[in-house]
Amino acid sequence: MTTIRLRRAVLGGATALLLAACGDEKQDVFTPEGDRARSINDLQVPVFIVAGLVGVGVAVAMTIVIVKGRRRYKDDTDDPTQLEGNFKLEIAWTIAPAVLLFVIAVFTVSTLLRLDDNEAGAAELDGMEITVYGHQWWWSYEYDFDADGEPEVITANELVIPAGVPVTLNVSSRDVIHSFWVPALNGTIDAVPGRTHAIVFEADEPGEFDGQCKEYCGLSHANMKMRVVALSMNEFQTWLEQQQQTAPMLEEGDDGFEGQQLFVDRCSTCHQVNGLTNADGDEILVEGRAAVVSRYAPNLTHLMSRETFAGSLFDLYDPETGEFNRAQMEAWVRNPTAEKPMYATPPEGELPRGMPDLGLTEEEIDQMVDYLVTLGPVPPSPEGPEPVTDEAGS
Ligand code: CUA
Repeated sequence: MTTIRLRRAVLGGATALLLAACGDEKQDVFTPEGDRARSINDLQVPVFIVAGLVGVGVAVAMTIVIVKGRRRYKDDTDDPTQLEGNFKLEIAWTIAPAVLLFVIAVFTVSTLLRLDDNEAGAAELDGMEITVYGHQWWWSYEYDFDADGEPEVITANELVIPAGVPVTLNVSSRDVIHSFWVPALNGTIDAVPGRTHAIVFEADEPGEFDGQCKEYCGLSHANMKMRVVALSMNEFQTWLEQQQQTAPMLEEGDDGFEGQQLFVDRCSTCHQVNGLTNADGDEILVEGRAAVVSRYAPNLTHLMSRETFAGSLFDLYDPETGEFNRAQMEAWVRNPTAEKPMYATPPEGELPRGMPDLGLTEEEIDQMVDYLVTLGPVPPSPEGPEPVTDEAGS
């Protein structure tokens, strides 16, 4: 009786876990939203069914053997009758799996070849390349229209693509091995330092698709998320234009001016904001390159045009009301390592990873967030929050 109850509890718990794991439909391997992901799903579903049938068959056969062949009497100490060498059976259970595996291999290889075709085909994009970099623990995206190696647009965590056309991503890493995985759009591709791996993403319709780094990459691996925002071609072009604008330099009296000074002093060695100048009027560049994303930190020029921040861990806007999530942003600026495990203050000789605690006062935190909200525009997302105007500026 107790055993049955225990089994039921375990089974119930496992089912609940399984269902919980499938709860986020934006990140579900069984609901493909693009051509490539559909190819994978068309392969995996039949394979899972066949594997399931084989598994059940084996379990049933084993149960029959165990029940029928078990020792009947406690005092029966003789060995059971030994059987060996059923030639026909042995041939059968060698050939059947071999045939099964061969059939699966044919479909698997043809799917792999199909996925390996990395031709992107949008005339409007005219050779545009998107390079994806993994960092501990966030993603950056560099859009290079003329393929001259100097990206015109750099953003972080949220990859914006046009819907309905295949887009080639060149995936690499700036530190350790990560893996880029947005299950609704394609399989995984490793992000390896010093190498570039191409993968094609295509979303059928405008929408949002969540992903997760899939290669253990250190302390905050589980917090290394990403989102793909697919827009109509028109909206995408608008987005591209917006992203190429520089942030306005605020002047004394403007909301966020004090925060801008703080940002220049405390943040601008790691975070690039395009258009930001120092006291001498020179543009502040992280590592000497315009618009570059350093290996340390996301480019924040258009921070507020995203929906998430800190490795897509937190919502920048309340998903219900669309209001700027100021409390979470303040908490992040107040003590980042408390919000997301990082290696920001490592022992001497070790490299720091992630955003350090800057030790800002409450007043400074307030000023800093007042500045960050000026880094617009608001997200162009298809299902995202409505534009926020007053809340963000005050
Ligand atoms: Cu990056 Cu796991």
